[in-house]
Amino acid sequence: MPWCLIDGKNVEFSDGATIIEAAGSAGIFIPHFCYHPGLGAPAQCRMCVVEVEGRTKLQTACSTPACEGMIVKTGSERVKQVQKSTMEFLLINHPLDCAICDKSGECMLQDNSYHYGDATMRTVEERRTYADLEMGPVIKKNMNRCIHCTRCIRFGEKVAGIAEMAAFGRGGSTEIATLDGAELKTPYAGNYSDICPTGALTLKDFRFKKRSWLLTKTAAVCEGCSRGCAIEVHHADGVVYRQVARENLRINRYWICDEGRFLYRYLGDPERVRQPLVSGNISDWVSAAGVAREMFNGGRVMVLAGEDLTLEEAKELLDFVRPAGAGIFRFGTPQVCAARDDGDEDMILRRKSKTSNLHGLQQLGISAFDGRPSGTVLVVRGGRAVIPDLGGCKVIGAGVFQGGETTDFEAVLPGRAFLEKGGSIVNCDGIEQRGVSVVPGPAEAKGLGDILRLLGRGGD
Ligand code: SF4
Ligand code: SF4
Ligand code: FES
Repeated sequence: MPWCLIDGKNVEFSDGATIIEAAGSAGIFIPHFCYHPGLGAPAQCRMCVVEVEGRTKLQTACSTPACEGMIVKTGSERVKQVQKSTMEFLLINHPLDCAICDKSGECMLQDNSYHYGDATMRTVEERRTYADLEMGPVIKKNMNRCIHCTRCIRFGEKVAGIAEMAAFGRGGSTEIATLDGAELKTPYAGNYSDICPTGALTLKDFRFKKRSWLLTKTAAVCEGCSRGCAIEVHHADGVVYRQVARENLRINRYWICDEGRFLYRYLGDPERVRQPLVSGNISDWVSAAGVAREMFNGGRVMVLAGEDLTLEEAKELLDFVRPAGAGIFRFGTPQVCAARDDGDEDMILRRKSKTSNLHGLQQLGISAFDGRPSGTVLVVRGGRAVIPDLGGCKVIGAGVFQGGETTDFEAVLPGRAFLEKGGSIVNCDGIEQRGVSVVPGPAEAKGLGDILRLLGRGGD
């Protein structure tokens, strides 16, 4: 592997790597704004300048290829002076309102200003001001905070496949906007907020609900479709406040779709069944489990396993069901009965299967539901699989349900959702990933193992 010297450290790099990438691989941070590994480097903000021995001018680390034997300084006096000037320039029009900005605490402008900027500004002119603007249901724009890094423009062009953002005007009048002020159309709009290095583009769903430093951030996997994108869940006091994309170059690179981003809302849905039910009425575990047990052990039973269950749960269910002689089938997304039906829904990430573990349950040999239920049916669900028509059957529900779904159920035994229990799922490419329990879930919900024990002949 070729090598170079960055700040006196011997750094090996892959062919084609830029200085910022080579430095990053060795743990050396070079401040930047416009560069993003998924969006390229227009070398526009000039924040990443470094000194390269033998070159008269400072170089932009994001766009300059690393070369064998190159000697780079990232923190020389010359570099520091330019970083200060760059920060001063970027802040000419930026309001001094971090305290009331939703990005505060996770803002690249704030961080770079603190570490590389100057404590004083020389400008006395009025800053330009714009009113906040709704850009559709997902994003709110505050143009006062924009530094014209063009990340959002490039995201539309290079990732979302819709060039919906552009820079209008010139110099200090440059404004980032959509054509004719149209709403953002991409179903991946939440990524605009993830990539905007400032508080210019923020998530309407999250704005002012929690300060970023009060959130615990846990790595997780999205359960919105069979892609299984890497996400980071931001939560506090057992409540999920938002989900953002987490880098996974094999699966979702740096992005997630809006459907997956906002999926967590069902955890806190007021309609969610949080207590055991008998014939639609709130009950207790002893009574509801008693009713369910009597039904389960009273004759032929069909078990329907949601393709939103984890591998561990599906195995547990198989071990429970097979000795009892019940038939078990899986269900998930209408019209997507098997892995062969599960294709790309678009050219980016979204898949046709809207459950996370179709591929895992199929691998375990569980057949697809054939649409002919009768007698007693035990429906076990993680929260996302679409319940088939069970008209004429006596139904026991175990797992996560919303109130309207269980009106005709004889008994409901509330369980935990994916973010409340963790477990393994297999994505559309056969990649197995393990999620962890992020939040505890409703106090009365139980794990599937406990529910099955209550259902068993041994009883409670
Ligand atoms: S809105 Fe954000 S991402 Fe877009 S150019 Fe401005 S600062 Fe960059
Ligand atoms: S593409 Fe699928 S797995 Fe990825 S974020 Fe969207 S719903 Fe979740
Ligand atoms: S990050 Fe290199 S010029 Fe912006």
